[in-house]
Formats: sequence, structure tokens, C-alpha cells
Amino acid sequence: KEPLRIGVAGLGTVGASVIRILNTQASLIEEKTGRPVVVTAVSARDRSKDRGIDLSGYQWFDNAADMAASSDVDCIVELIGGADGMAYETIEKAIANGKHVVTANKALLAKHGLKLAAAAEKKDTALAFEASVAGGIPVIKILREGMSANRIKRIYGILNGTCNYILSRMENERMTFQDCLKDAQKLGYAEADPTFDVEGFDTAHKLALLSSLAFGTEVDADSIYVEGISSISPLDITMAGELGYRIKLLGVAEYGKNGLEQRVHPTMVPKTSAIAQVMGVTNAVTIDADAVKELTLIGPGAGGDATASAVVADLTDVAADAVPLPFGVSAASLIKATSAGMQLH
Ligand code: HSE
Repeated sequence: KEPLRIGVAGLGTVGASVIRILNTQASLIEEKTGRPVVVTAVSARDRSKDRGIDLSGYQWFDNAADMAASSDVDCIVELIGGADGMAYETIEKAIANGKHVVTANKALLAKHGLKLAAAAEKKDTALAFEASVAGGIPVIKILREGMSANRIKRIYGILNGTCNYILSRMENERMTFQDCLKDAQKLGYAEADPTFDVEGFDTAHKLALLSSLAFGTEVDADSIYVEGISSISPLDITMAGELGYRIKLLGVAEYGKNGLEQRVHPTMVPKTSAIAQVMGVTNAVTIDADAVKELTLIGPGAGGDATASAVVADLTDVAADAVPLPFGVSAASLIKATSAGMQLH
């Protein structure tokens, strides 16, 4: 079979890991999909930066949107970040040119996800975003493909690795908030603008995507109550500990009589609970549903290789021509279901 030709837009921690994994696992991926998956082009702001990978064999684009129109590329991996600007332009152009898109960009999808899903559906291209929520945990796949027998009541969890890393180290090592954040940035966990992490917006973006998949409702990040962890002090953590609790930043979404309720805030969880055991950059997602009852997924929530694992999983689906509609159903039916005030799933 013809190789699937990838253009990687954005060469930060995740982009470099994606290229490395595609190279080292090339034969495994081809075995699984029956088709080679090869990077042919790359794009980033700084050409000369040392990323620890050899980029000499790839076509270089200074402008990612130009790469999205290139006839040498079948699929764009968008890792630029940001809800608008170059990331949006690149994805829009890729879809318009009939290219598949794999993205880790939750901020962009929380804002434009449905519109882009509709465009991709129309063009019959894939729009895959496993890496956008909970890093290496394949939760999108589970919600989209594994829960058909269930009506989901609630979905909640620890969705930001940076915050959980900060809270864990503040508790265990009595470090200051600022020092923990600096380390999270050094390790490549934090967003380019870490305010998104620590003020809860990144969790809200991810929650909005999970809610849409879980409840069959439109992606709605704007109505989420959002409170982050920047004002949590070491004393708060100690006091909570003395009372038998641990502080976690949770994203919670429930679908009840009043429709969809979504919120993000620091929460005191009993130290004996399962979610309290989730420490460091790890994420956890719990799904309460009628048939399966309770399902919890735990795994690495951020970091180059873990996030790249999800990107490459999407790429193998694209190569195998096995990507479902972005939100599991057509974008039009999502809009219809939400405006009628009912749950689709
Ligand atoms: N900044 C994000 C986090 C990266 O810390 O969870 C993964 O989406």
C-alpha cells in the first residue's frame, strides 16, 4: 500500500516525540495498519533549534498552512497550539484540501470543534484528537467506540497533569507553587501559557470535549464554572491533610434534569478514595454509566512520549482508514440534539 505521508506542524516536546516514535516503531505500525506511516514534511517557527532529532530528510515549511496545502502530505499533525491563529488556519486549510488532521489541541477544539467536525465530515477526511484529552489515556476512543450500550450519567477526573504534578509535589516535598510550576515547564508538561493549566482552563477545554462525547451534546466550554489552583497555599494542603483529605483539581460533568452541568475547581477528596491516590503528572477519568456502572482510566496525562502515543494511535487509525466521525455522530445531529434539550447517546 502507498505510505500515509505526514506533515508535522509544531515541533515542541510532543512533535519531536511523534517523529521519534514514528521512526523507531515504523515496522510495528506498518504491521498493524498494513501501510507505512512516514513523516515527509515539518513546520515550526525556529528552524535552527536543537530538538534532539534529525530533521534533514523532511521538507521544511516556514508556514504550516502552506504545508497543509502541499500535495506531498496526506495528513497533518497539528501541534502548534492556541485556539486560533496558525493552528486554526492550518487545520481549516488541511480539511479544505482534503487532508486528514490529527491534533492535540483541546483549546482549539473546545472553541471550534463542532464547526471543524462538520467541515471534515463534508470533505470525508478524518479529524482525530485522542491526544487532546488526558495525554496517553485513550479516553476518546473509549467514549466514542466502547460505551454504545450505556447512557452516561457523569464523567469526572483529573485532567491536567501540570496541576496534579504541582499539588503532589507541594504536598510531598513541601515545595512552593512557583518551583513546582517551573519544573512542570522544564519537563514539557505545561502549556505554552501555563495560566491555562493553573487557572483551570485547560481542564475546562478537555472537560467540554469529554462531555460532548459522553452526552451527545454540543461542545460547550463557555458555560463551565472554572476555578484553578493558583491560590492554593501549602497551608490549605496541610489543613486538608489533617482533616483526612487531599486537594485535587477536578473537572466534573453531569447530565441531569437541568441538562448539562460542568465545573472545574479544586476539590477535597478523602485520602482513602481512589482518585486521591493519583499523584504526579498522572490523570484519571471516571465514567459513571448505567450498564458498565463505574469505569476508571488512569495514566500519564502529559509529556512528550505519552501524548505522542495518542497522536500515533490516531495516525494508525488514519492509515487503516478507521477513524469514526469526530464526535462519534454527525455534527448536525449533535446540534439538533442539543437544541432539543435531549441526550443523544
Ligand atoms: N498542559 C497539559 C497538562 C498538557 O498539563 O495536562 C496535556 O494536555
